[in-house]
Amino acid sequence: MHDSIPSTNDRARELLAAGIVGRAVVAEVQTAGRGRRGRTWTSPPGVNLTVSVGLDPHIRAADAWQLAAAAALAVRGACFAIAPLGLKWPNDIVSEEGGKVGGVLIETVLDGDAVASAVIGIGLNVNWRRSEMPADLRDHATSLAELGGRPVARETVLGDLLDSLDREIVAVEGGRSPLDRYRAACTTLGSEIEVDTGAGRIAGRAIDLDADGALVIESEGRLERVASGEIVRLRAVTAA
Ligand code: BTN
Repeated sequence: MHDSIPSTNDRARELLAAGIVGRAVVAEVQTAGRGRRGRTWTSPPGVNLTVSVGLDPHIRAADAWQLAAAAALAVRGACFAIAPLGLKWPNDIVSEEGGKVGGVLIETVLDGDAVASAVIGIGLNVNWRRSEMPADLRDHATSLAELGGRPVARETVLGDLLDSLDREIVAVEGGRSPLDRYRAACTTLGSEIEVDTGAGRIAGRAIDLDADGALVIESEGRLERVASGEIVRLRAVTAA
């Protein structure tokens, strides 16, 4: 466990560069923790988990999305005994009411059609009280302790999470897609949503995930497909 480093993802990347694969990097504080799309990841010391693992997965670039799905499923599985969680496509772990409990940030290096290396970063709100969250997070974030109604042992969650992640990654590397299990846990499906892709806005009903992990949206009588990398913002207008 590092007391304070810029980002566990950056440290995992450094370890990969030194040939160290699969080691979990955990930090109490990240001074430059980041979320998807260049956002900041905020997590105060002593309450949450921020962890990254660097991998050299032998998978196709087209299957890189499976790493994020696998990581989200691993978090969900590790927290199952504390609270039933769902997955908001593409990379969020949410409560049944939709509050964000955690997020996954995958950073890959491609070599042609293959993933040369990948860093899986996970931020999970464990014992963070909503009353202590910054005002801009409080309305849409929550934590395991809030959901379970009692403090949670971070070491236990971390151990379960790393075991679960290991199994999920072995499955992905073995060619077993997490798609069906991700689909079953995905709270986005069935919801009326608005998606901002940067290139435009799509409003409609999220009806499925295709074999490449893209979200299929029924919009004005047409089927639109949006890949996770295209998403700037996804907002549920009505829940499933
Ligand atoms: C998101 O929801 O936008 C993804 C958040 C990912 C945050 C984690 S915390 C550990 C790892 N290190 C980082 O800098 N980011 C990820």
